[in-house]
Amino acid sequence: IRPDRVRARLRGTIGELPVRTTPRQTIVVPTFNERENIATLLERLTAALPAGETEIVFVDDSTDDTPEVIRQVAEACPIPVTVHHRANGAGGLGGAVVEGMRLARGEWIVVMDADLQHPPEIVPDLVAAGARDGADLVVGSRYAGGGSRGGLSGGYRRIVSGGSTVVTKMLFRNSLSRVSDPMSGLFAIRASSLGVEELRPLGYKILLELVVRNRPGRIVEVPYSFQPRHAGESKSSMAEGVRFLKHLGMLRFGAQRSRMLMFGLIGVSGLLPNQAALWALNHLAGVHYLPAAVLANMVAVGWNFALTDTLLYRSRRSHRSFSGRFSRFFLLGNADLLLRIPLLALLVGGAHLGVLWANLVTLMISFVARFLISDKVIYRA
Ligand code: GDD
Ligand code: MN
Repeated sequence: IRPDRVRARLRGTIGELPVRTTPRQTIVVPTFNERENIATLLERLTAALPAGETEIVFVDDSTDDTPEVIRQVAEACPIPVTVHHRANGAGGLGGAVVEGMRLARGEWIVVMDADLQHPPEIVPDLVAAGARDGADLVVGSRYAGGGSRGGLSGGYRRIVSGGSTVVTKMLFRNSLSRVSDPMSGLFAIRASSLGVEELRPLGYKILLELVVRNRPGRIVEVPYSFQPRHAGESKSSMAEGVRFLKHLGMLRFGAQRSRMLMFGLIGVSGLLPNQAALWALNHLAGVHYLPAAVLANMVAVGWNFALTDTLLYRSRRSHRSFSGRFSRFFLLGNADLLLRIPLLALLVGGAHLGVLWANLVTLMISFVARFLISDKVIYRA
């Protein structure tokens, strides 16, 4: 059944009369190479939900034939199913979910994974709980009474998951006061409370994005037990972990301030090679502290460039060639010696501060200036 065609036909027969086309619920399912899970997922959703009041929207970023498998299985499925295959995968899982929310026509939008870690049978309970309690958001929770995270395999994953939940709840104490499982990928939201344009999804934690930026009214939770994966393997990775930290920074501090935070962390990490090289040259090799500071600075600039270019501005690298970026960064990192060397001479020669302490003070002063020039000039967006 193609709802768009049905609607077109209805419009043809009854002219411009308004036709009720709003389903009770749209199930949005993000998929990345999940071909083996589709049949079981649709089977169990069909058994759990009234076909006439439901639609299912898959948003797919697969590199395999998952979209074809979905279309094929959907032919025999009484619930209308659409597949939207994205070309660029922007925003990862979260970007896919938001895309699905744009396409959804249901009164309620239910988001769930394709791998059956979220039991399809719980979907009607989510919507019913939201309607009964007049809620905008219903979170499927592994931590609420009666829920469990049995399917979270391995001690390592449990620790990472539990730890990031605690840290996240601390960072967003107010928004998350009534959410025990902000990392959940299973939830239902009342479509009328959704502000899709405000969302800036980045990676896995779309529920967190939604709660923090959309500030839904009443939030309730429904416990469920997280199941083992049906088939295939998890798509989360180390890179996804880094993306999550970036997402946390963006949500909590905003884009510019989290870049400055990262620039600062990289800068602080550069203190180590800087001080070590200064100590080796000045103390061990007996080089005068001023030329030693100049050489130590170059070591640190190389270190900072490597980290800044790969971790912080990876996505902006294409604006300029490698040699263009490196030469500007190197020039900036050494230009600050014009400020730092006289200052250093003043602090050591005049104020009789120790060489390493004086070096540290001058580094702090040049930090803000270098951030602004990097952010606004070298890696201008
Ligand atoms: N479209 C799209 N694009 N879908 C994706 C992408 C992507 O880049 N990455 C993953 N998915 C889909 C998968 O195909 C699956 O249907 C769902 O998103 C969840 O991916 P998994 O790889 O199975 O995630 P997980 O089991 O490690 O994590 C899930 O459970 C966590 C709770 O422990 C997610 O729901 C997390 O958000 C949740 O925190
Ligand atoms: Mn999974």
